[in-house]
Amino acid sequence: MKILTIVGARPQFIKAAPVSRAIRKQHTEILVHTGQHYDDNMSGVFFRELAIPKPDYNLEVGSGGHGEQTGLMLQRLEPLVEQEQPDLLLIYGDTNSTLAGALTAAKLHIPLAHVEAGLRSFERQMPEEVNRVVADQLSNLLFCPTRTAVNNLQREGIGSNPQLDQRIYEVGDVMYDAVLHNLALAETHADFLLASLGLKPQGYTLATVHRAANTDDAIHLRSIVAALAQIGSVAQPVVFPVHPRTRKVMATLGITPGDAIKLIEPVGYLEMLNLERNARLIITDSGGVQKEAYFLAVPCLTLRDETEWVETVASGWNRLVGTVTDTIVAAARDVGAQGSAPTDPPPSLFGDGHAGERIAELVARLKVIDYR
Ligand code: UD1
Ligand code: UDP
Repeated sequence: MKILTIVGARPQFIKAAPVSRAIRKQHTEILVHTGQHYDDNMSGVFFRELAIPKPDYNLEVGSGGHGEQTGLMLQRLEPLVEQEQPDLLLIYGDTNSTLAGALTAAKLHIPLAHVEAGLRSFERQMPEEVNRVVADQLSNLLFCPTRTAVNNLQREGIGSNPQLDQRIYEVGDVMYDAVLHNLALAETHADFLLASLGLKPQGYTLATVHRAANTDDAIHLRSIVAALAQIGSVAQPVVFPVHPRTRKVMATLGITPGDAIKLIEPVGYLEMLNLERNARLIITDSGGVQKEAYFLAVPCLTLRDETEWVETVASGWNRLVGTVTDTIVAAARDVGAQGSAPTDPPPSLFGDGHAGERIAELVARLKVIDYR
């Protein structure tokens, strides 16, 4: 089967790595990078570290507003897909690259498969929620990471659209595959970064912030950075690999948090796994980082009022703390307090680390004729 995969943003490279590895054992894959992320530390480093094959095409759309960015992707994807005539188009997650892939497949009548289907925040102001809802509606094959995701799709009646011949499968989480596959490598990759930052295992908090709701709202961003600075000065150092979006807004707003926060450039995946597994606490608004904290059994505070990864909260390993400084600081203090951390390890709810293989198998079993 000829599968055309579309990726474009940092988390999609990580998700695609285990699936691509499995797919290429029995299918032909054409890899398209939309160019949504383009800095070496947001893109190239993941291809090298995760041994992802070089993309066959790079659409080089770069940054822009939602309309401009998605529109350019559509414009450049359509002739390419028409020329390649794949049997299946494969999309990941919930970015503008996901949306453009879904629309292109639907308009050109190419069967569509969505990896990480069924996630919902139930917050339509969130750009990713719009992308997911559309992608799931248009997909013929929906690969869900969790039981919750399957339930979300069924509640929306997505499994029963005869025109689309929708099929829903709980396959496990491909980001869990990626963690299991790379953890040993990350460990040998050294604690070089830790040492160079003067950090000790269990001796720091790791933070990431990039959601539109937190960066595009000056009050939220100032409040979050103030919390991180307080945590860094009264408790332990905070290391903060800064997403380029956040760095730009911080510069524009003149936010300079001082020495209590170690601001660093975005790091590669192996360095990130190392920073995560050695952290005492993770504070984030990232979907992927919330899950990795859970996989690695590191307590997490999420800088949002809702999450798609509800299992991580239900288990007690993740807490939704919003963006108010005092609430974040108090929650961080709580994690350090005696007896407040969960005693049970995080339940295994994200599959067995073989989601990628399962996806490749399912795609192989379902012949093209099934969809068309
Ligand atoms: C995008 C996704 C988001 C995902 C995130 C992962 C959408 C709507 N959002 O958000 O779901 O969680 O990726 O990181 O698709 N920039 C650079 N260099 C780069 C890439 C971006 O400087 O290589 C800067 C640009 O100023 C750009 C801004 O970051 O305007 C935002 O990038 P964009 O891809 O539009 O959105 P993200 O915030 O990265
Ligand atoms: N990540 C990374 N380096 C960083 C920050 C994040 O490798 O400096 C990885 C992280 O480990 C996770 C993924 O990027 O695998 C999450 O991506 P991001 O937070 O950008 O997006 P989201 O998951 O929120 O869509």
